[in-house]
Amino acid sequence: MVLPFEKEYRERYYQLLDQVFESNFWSDGRMTRTFEEKFEEFTGLYSCAVTSGGAGLLSILEYAGVKGKEVIVPANTFWATAQAAKKAGAKVVYADCNREDLCMNYEDMVSKVTPDTKAVIVVHIGGHIAFDIEKIASFCEEHKIALIEDCAHAHGAQWNGKTAGSYGLAGSYSFYATKTMPLGEGGMIVSRDKDLIAWMKKFRNYGKEVINGKIVTYPMKEGFNYRINEFTAALGVVQLEHMPVILEWKRMLARKFDQIFDKTVIFPEGMQSGYYKYIVFDQNLSEETGKVFNYTDFGNEIEGIKLELPNSYWVAEHHKCAPIYYGWDKAQMTAEEIKVYLLG
Ligand SMILES: Cc1ncc(COP(=O)(O)O)c(C=O)c1O
Repeated sequence: MVLPFEKEYRERYYQLLDQVFESNFWSDGRMTRTFEEKFEEFTGLYSCAVTSGGAGLLSILEYAGVKGKEVIVPANTFWATAQAAKKAGAKVVYADCNREDLCMNYEDMVSKVTPDTKAVIVVHIGGHIAFDIEKIASFCEEHKIALIEDCAHAHGAQWNGKTAGSYGLAGSYSFYATKTMPLGEGGMIVSRDKDLIAWMKKFRNYGKEVINGKIVTYPMKEGFNYRINEFTAALGVVQLEHMPVILEWKRMLARKFDQIFDKTVIFPEGMQSGYYKYIVFDQNLSEETGKVFNYTDFGNEIEGIKLELPNSYWVAEHHKCAPIYYGWDKAQMTAEEIKVYLLG
């Protein structure tokens, strides 16, 4: 598989690289600001670029002050979600998912809350917004629990106009090489809270910030280096210009898959997925991109803890992903041809 990065986007990238060289800033410069501003337009949220999706989660957890407290995470996610909470010094408590959307189940999450619960991390698995997010957000607000959104899969997702990262305290996107918006590496913290993002901009740089070309240092004992470099930021600007093409391409293919598969994720009114994955249940496919997760990827399994999480284990067993990655060479076939190709 070749990651499609068409000639026009390469040329645009080379132009921006020239701007970086001419600016004399290879880190913490104008290109990072431009990338953040454009991401703000994309999600409607304040944004702070960081080195990875995991670094973004860890930063938000540090901000929320979870050390010595409990953080509820879904079992069925990539280990990064739980690991970020562990690295931030929290005890991880695993919650079950729904079979319908693969995302955190509200009732199970509520049943896991204790007086020590400091945060809940919802993962928008597969590229759509978690169906229970409104209920989870109201509960967290009422009980003063920080709601953190892992948006690693959710580029381009929205539900009635609300993007991933806009329901809770903050969210973290990943730009890892296989994501819907790949930069090779990188992440973006998003939030409705301007002050939180101002804190992040210092936190990612040991308490320093470059303002109008001058380094300003703040007293901040927590800070570390989660800066991105200006070359990655330039690629970020280009990929944001590319995103409408990538998303429309995936949605075009999803419309064909919708004609082929009936056992899939059925979206509620107003949901628009970014289609990081196209999930099907109980289906043999001639070509697939595996599973979003196997049960061996569950955080509790990695920690060696046996838990009753019936929906998570059911989903791990019964789902797989039809090939919806940008550039799939069969995408231009008709729905009927794809059906014959995938199902025989
Ligand atoms: C659900 C989820 N959360 C977090 C991450 C971590 O992102 P990164 O690899 O950019 O640290 C990933 C993927 O890599 C992921 O799939």
